[in-house]
Amino acid sequence: KAAGEKIPCLTCYDAAFTRVLEAAGVELLLVGDSLGNVLQGQDSTVPVSVDHMVYHCACLARVRSRALLVADMPFLSYATPQQALATAARLMQEGSARMVKLEGGAERLESVALLSAQGVPVCGHLGLLPQSVHKLGGYRVQGREPDQAEAMRRDALALQEAGAGLLVLECVPSGLAQEISAALRIPVIGIGAGVCDGQVLVLHDMLGITPAEGAPPRFVKNFLVGRGGVREAVRAYVEAVKSGDFPATEHGFE
Ligand code: KIV
Repeated sequence: KAAGEKIPCLTCYDAAFTRVLEAAGVELLLVGDSLGNVLQGQDSTVPVSVDHMVYHCACLARVRSRALLVADMPFLSYATPQQALATAARLMQEGSARMVKLEGGAERLESVALLSAQGVPVCGHLGLLPQSVHKLGGYRVQGREPDQAEAMRRDALALQEAGAGLLVLECVPSGLAQEISAALRIPVIGIGAGVCDGQVLVLHDMLGITPAEGAPPRFVKNFLVGRGGVREAVRAYVEAVKSGDFPATEHGFE
Protein backbone atom coordinates (compact mmCIF):
# COMPACT_ATOMS: atom_id res chain seq x y z
CA LYS A 1 0.00 0.00 0.00
CA ALA A 2 2.77 2.39 0.97
CA ALA A 3 4.38 1.90 -2.46
CA GLY A 4 1.06 2.53 -4.21
CA GLU A 5 1.03 -1.01 -5.61
CA LYS A 6 -2.24 -2.89 -5.94
CA ILE A 7 -2.46 -6.26 -4.19
CA PRO A 8 -3.86 -9.19 -6.24
CA CYS A 9 -5.69 -11.72 -4.06
CA LEU A 10 -7.88 -14.76 -4.78
CA THR A 11 -9.67 -17.37 -2.77
CA CYS A 12 -8.02 -20.78 -2.84
CA TYR A 13 -9.03 -24.07 -1.30
CA ASP A 14 -6.48 -26.70 -2.37
CA ALA A 15 -2.82 -27.44 -3.12
CA ALA A 16 -3.10 -27.66 -6.92
CA PHE A 17 -4.48 -24.14 -7.26
CA THR A 18 -2.05 -22.83 -4.64
CA ARG A 19 0.82 -23.70 -6.97
CA VAL A 20 -0.90 -22.13 -9.99
CA LEU A 21 -1.90 -18.95 -8.16
CA GLU A 22 1.49 -18.40 -6.56
CA ALA A 23 3.30 -18.94 -9.85
CA ALA A 24 1.04 -16.32 -11.44
CA GLY A 25 1.90 -13.75 -8.74
CA VAL A 26 -1.18 -13.84 -6.49
CA GLU A 27 0.05 -12.32 -3.23
CA LEU A 28 -2.71 -13.34 -0.84
CA LEU A 29 -4.54 -16.66 -0.79
CA LEU A 30 -7.82 -16.54 1.10
CA VAL A 31 -9.18 -19.84 2.32
CA GLY A 32 -12.63 -18.34 2.30
CA ASP A 33 -15.62 -19.96 3.91
CA SER A 34 -17.07 -19.46 0.43
CA LEU A 35 -15.78 -23.03 0.12
CA GLY A 36 -19.18 -23.91 1.56
CA ASN A 37 -20.88 -22.61 -1.59
CA VAL A 38 -18.14 -23.41 -4.08
CA LEU A 39 -16.89 -26.84 -2.98
CA GLN A 40 -19.62 -28.21 -0.75
CA GLY A 41 -22.70 -27.12 -2.69
CA GLN A 42 -24.21 -25.33 0.31
CA ASP A 43 -26.51 -22.34 -0.24
CA SER A 44 -24.53 -20.17 2.21
CA THR A 45 -21.33 -20.16 4.28
CA VAL A 46 -23.26 -20.92 7.47
CA PRO A 47 -22.71 -24.73 7.51
CA VAL A 48 -18.90 -24.44 7.21
CA SER A 49 -17.10 -25.71 10.32
CA VAL A 50 -13.70 -25.03 11.87
CA ASP A 51 -12.70 -28.61 10.93
CA HIS A 52 -13.47 -27.86 7.27
CA MET A 53 -11.39 -24.68 7.39
CA VAL A 54 -8.45 -26.40 9.09
CA TYR A 55 -8.49 -29.18 6.48
CA HIS A 56 -8.39 -26.77 3.52
CA CYS A 57 -5.79 -24.46 5.11
CA ALA A 58 -3.50 -27.42 5.69
CA CYS A 59 -3.86 -28.42 2.01
CA LEU A 60 -2.60 -24.99 0.91
CA ALA A 61 0.05 -24.74 3.60
CA ARG A 62 1.82 -27.92 2.45
CA VAL A 63 2.80 -26.28 -0.86
CA ARG A 64 2.58 -22.54 -0.21
CA SER A 65 5.85 -20.68 -0.46
CA ARG A 66 5.38 -16.91 -0.28
CA ALA A 67 1.75 -15.79 -0.59
CA LEU A 68 0.02 -14.75 2.63
CA LEU A 69 -2.35 -17.52 3.73
CA VAL A 70 -5.48 -15.98 5.26
CA ALA A 71 -8.22 -18.18 6.71
CA ASP A 72 -11.82 -17.29 7.41
CA MET A 73 -13.11 -17.97 10.89
CA PRO A 74 -16.42 -19.69 10.15
CA PHE A 75 -19.92 -18.81 11.36
CA LEU A 76 -20.30 -18.77 15.17
CA SER A 77 -16.69 -19.79 15.75
CA TYR A 78 -15.80 -16.36 17.19
CA ALA A 79 -18.93 -15.35 19.07
CA THR A 80 -16.82 -14.43 22.11
CA PRO A 81 -13.19 -13.25 22.31
CA GLN A 82 -12.15 -16.51 24.02
CA GLN A 83 -13.84 -18.58 21.32
CA ALA A 84 -12.10 -16.43 18.67
CA LEU A 85 -8.77 -17.21 20.33
CA ALA A 86 -9.49 -20.95 20.36
CA THR A 87 -10.54 -20.91 16.69
CA ALA A 88 -7.50 -18.89 15.67
CA ALA A 89 -5.27 -21.36 17.53
CA ARG A 90 -6.67 -24.24 15.47
CA LEU A 91 -6.43 -22.37 12.16
CA MET A 92 -2.84 -21.32 12.82
CA GLN A 93 -1.47 -24.40 14.61
CA GLU A 94 -3.28 -27.17 12.71
CA GLY A 95 -4.00 -25.32 9.45
CA SER A 96 -0.82 -23.18 9.33
CA ALA A 97 -2.83 -20.05 8.47
CA ARG A 98 -0.82 -16.84 8.83
CA MET A 99 -3.79 -14.52 9.35
CA VAL A 100 -7.43 -15.03 10.32
CA LYS A 101 -10.42 -13.13 8.96
CA LEU A 102 -13.61 -12.34 10.81
CA GLU A 103 -16.79 -10.58 9.73
CA GLY A 104 -18.19 -7.56 11.56
CA GLY A 105 -17.32 -4.18 13.05
CA ALA A 106 -17.94 -2.71 16.50
CA GLU A 107 -19.10 -6.05 17.92
CA ARG A 108 -15.72 -7.64 17.05
CA LEU A 109 -13.32 -5.06 18.48
CA GLU A 110 -12.66 -6.90 21.72
CA SER A 111 -11.85 -10.10 19.81
CA VAL A 112 -9.61 -8.29 17.33
CA ALA A 113 -7.71 -6.60 20.18
CA LEU A 114 -7.27 -9.89 22.06
CA LEU A 115 -6.13 -11.80 18.96
CA SER A 116 -3.75 -9.06 17.98
CA ALA A 117 -2.30 -8.82 21.50
CA GLN A 118 -1.67 -12.59 21.39
CA GLY A 119 0.26 -12.32 18.12
CA VAL A 120 -2.51 -13.35 15.74
CA PRO A 121 -2.64 -11.25 12.55
CA VAL A 122 -6.27 -10.30 11.86
CA CYS A 123 -8.17 -9.28 8.76
CA GLY A 124 -11.51 -7.50 9.24
CA HIS A 125 -14.46 -7.81 6.86
CA LEU A 126 -17.11 -5.10 6.47
CA GLY A 127 -19.93 -4.39 4.04
CA LEU A 128 -21.85 -7.44 2.95
CA LEU A 129 -21.27 -10.10 5.60
CA PRO A 130 -22.18 -13.46 4.03
CA GLN A 131 -22.33 -15.22 7.40
CA SER A 132 -25.22 -12.90 8.34
CA VAL A 133 -27.21 -13.63 5.18
CA HIS A 134 -30.18 -15.01 7.14
CA LYS A 135 -30.35 -11.81 9.17
CA LEU A 136 -29.80 -9.55 6.15
CA GLY A 137 -32.40 -11.42 4.11
CA GLY A 138 -30.17 -11.70 1.04
CA TYR A 139 -26.92 -10.64 -0.59
CA ARG A 140 -27.19 -6.86 -1.07
CA VAL A 141 -24.90 -3.85 -1.39
CA GLN A 142 -24.24 -2.32 2.04
CA GLY A 143 -23.48 1.30 2.95
CA ARG A 144 -25.74 3.17 0.57
CA GLU A 145 -27.66 4.92 3.38
CA PRO A 146 -25.73 7.79 5.05
CA ASP A 147 -26.02 6.29 8.54
CA GLN A 148 -24.81 2.87 7.27
CA ALA A 149 -21.90 4.56 5.48
CA GLU A 150 -20.94 6.49 8.61
CA ALA A 151 -21.04 3.33 10.73
CA MET A 152 -18.80 1.58 8.19
CA ARG A 153 -16.25 4.42 8.24
CA ARG A 154 -16.23 4.27 12.06
CA ASP A 155 -15.96 0.47 12.15
CA ALA A 156 -13.09 0.45 9.64
CA LEU A 157 -11.03 2.88 11.70
CA ALA A 158 -11.89 1.09 14.94
CA LEU A 159 -10.83 -2.30 13.52
CA GLN A 160 -7.50 -0.77 12.46
CA GLU A 161 -7.00 0.76 15.90
CA ALA A 162 -7.90 -2.55 17.57
CA GLY A 163 -5.03 -4.18 15.67
CA ALA A 164 -6.41 -5.47 12.36
CA GLY A 165 -3.70 -5.62 9.71
CA LEU A 166 -5.98 -5.87 6.70
CA LEU A 167 -9.60 -5.15 5.84
CA VAL A 168 -11.92 -6.70 3.25
CA LEU A 169 -14.80 -4.56 1.97
CA GLU A 170 -17.50 -6.56 0.19
CA CYS A 171 -20.29 -5.07 -1.95
CA VAL A 172 -19.84 -1.47 -0.88
CA PRO A 173 -20.40 1.62 -3.09
CA SER A 174 -17.11 2.38 -4.88
CA GLY A 175 -16.90 5.97 -3.58
CA LEU A 176 -17.29 4.90 0.04
CA ALA A 177 -14.76 2.08 -0.33
CA GLN A 178 -12.25 4.47 -1.90
CA GLU A 179 -12.76 6.91 0.95
CA ILE A 180 -12.19 4.18 3.55
CA SER A 181 -9.09 2.91 1.70
CA ALA A 182 -7.63 6.42 1.72
CA ALA A 183 -8.40 6.92 5.41
CA LEU A 184 -6.74 3.70 6.63
CA ARG A 185 -3.03 2.88 7.02
CA ILE A 186 -3.73 -0.81 6.55
CA PRO A 187 -4.48 -2.25 3.08
CA VAL A 188 -8.12 -2.51 2.08
CA ILE A 189 -9.02 -5.39 -0.23
CA GLY A 190 -12.20 -4.93 -2.23
CA ILE A 191 -14.72 -7.31 -3.75
CA GLY A 192 -17.57 -5.49 -5.40
CA ALA A 193 -16.14 -2.32 -3.86
CA GLY A 194 -14.44 -0.60 -6.80
CA VAL A 195 -10.77 0.28 -6.67
CA CYS A 196 -9.23 -0.29 -3.21
CA ASP A 197 -5.63 -1.15 -2.26
CA GLY A 198 -6.14 -4.68 -3.52
CA GLN A 199 -8.75 -6.91 -5.05
CA VAL A 200 -10.09 -10.37 -4.26
CA LEU A 201 -12.46 -12.61 -6.21
CA VAL A 202 -13.71 -16.09 -5.60
CA LEU A 203 -11.40 -18.23 -7.74
CA HIS A 204 -14.18 -20.26 -9.35
CA ASP A 205 -16.05 -17.04 -10.24
CA MET A 206 -13.09 -15.55 -12.12
CA LEU A 207 -12.70 -18.83 -14.00
CA GLY A 208 -16.41 -18.81 -14.90
CA ILE A 209 -17.13 -22.19 -13.30
CA THR A 210 -19.46 -21.18 -10.47
CA PRO A 211 -22.81 -22.86 -11.03
CA ALA A 212 -24.86 -19.74 -10.43
CA GLU A 213 -28.49 -19.30 -11.38
CA GLY A 214 -28.80 -16.37 -13.75
CA ALA A 215 -26.02 -13.88 -14.41
CA PRO A 216 -22.97 -13.69 -12.10
CA PRO A 217 -22.74 -10.65 -9.80
CA ARG A 218 -21.61 -7.49 -11.61
CA PHE A 219 -18.25 -7.40 -9.79
CA VAL A 220 -17.24 -10.76 -11.29
CA LYS A 221 -15.19 -10.96 -14.46
CA ASN A 222 -14.46 -14.26 -16.18
CA PHE A 223 -10.75 -14.08 -16.99
CA LEU A 224 -10.77 -17.42 -18.80
CA VAL A 225 -12.71 -15.95 -21.72
CA GLY A 226 -10.37 -15.57 -24.70
CA ARG A 227 -7.43 -17.17 -22.91
CA GLY A 228 -5.71 -20.48 -23.39
CA GLY A 229 -6.06 -21.92 -19.90
CA VAL A 230 -6.22 -21.42 -16.17
CA ARG A 231 -2.59 -20.27 -15.77
CA GLU A 232 -3.01 -17.62 -18.43
CA ALA A 233 -6.33 -16.47 -16.92
CA VAL A 234 -4.84 -16.07 -13.45
CA ARG A 235 -1.82 -14.19 -14.85
CA ALA A 236 -4.21 -11.86 -16.70
CA TYR A 237 -6.13 -11.24 -13.45
CA VAL A 238 -2.91 -10.41 -11.57
CA GLU A 239 -1.82 -8.00 -14.32
CA ALA A 240 -5.27 -6.39 -14.52
CA VAL A 241 -5.35 -5.77 -10.75
CA LYS A 242 -1.79 -4.44 -10.68
CA SER A 243 -2.31 -2.14 -13.65
CA GLY A 244 -5.63 -0.84 -12.31
CA ASP A 245 -7.59 -2.24 -15.29
CA PHE A 246 -9.65 -4.41 -12.94
CA PRO A 247 -12.02 -3.61 -11.39
CA ALA A 248 -13.37 -1.18 -13.99
CA THR A 249 -16.20 1.23 -13.25
CA GLU A 250 -18.83 -1.25 -14.45
CA HIS A 251 -17.74 -3.81 -11.83
CA GLY A 252 -18.55 -1.45 -8.96
CA PHE A 253 -21.72 -0.14 -7.29
CA GLU A 254 -22.96 3.43 -6.77
O1 KIV B 1 -15.28 -16.43 1.85
C1 KIV B 1 -14.85 -15.70 0.96
O2 KIV B 1 -14.54 -16.12 -0.14
C2 KIV B 1 -14.72 -14.28 1.26
C3 KIV B 1 -14.49 -13.36 0.09
C4 KIV B 1 -15.76 -13.18 -0.63
C5 KIV B 1 -13.88 -12.09 0.51
O3 KIV B 1 -14.84 -13.87 2.36
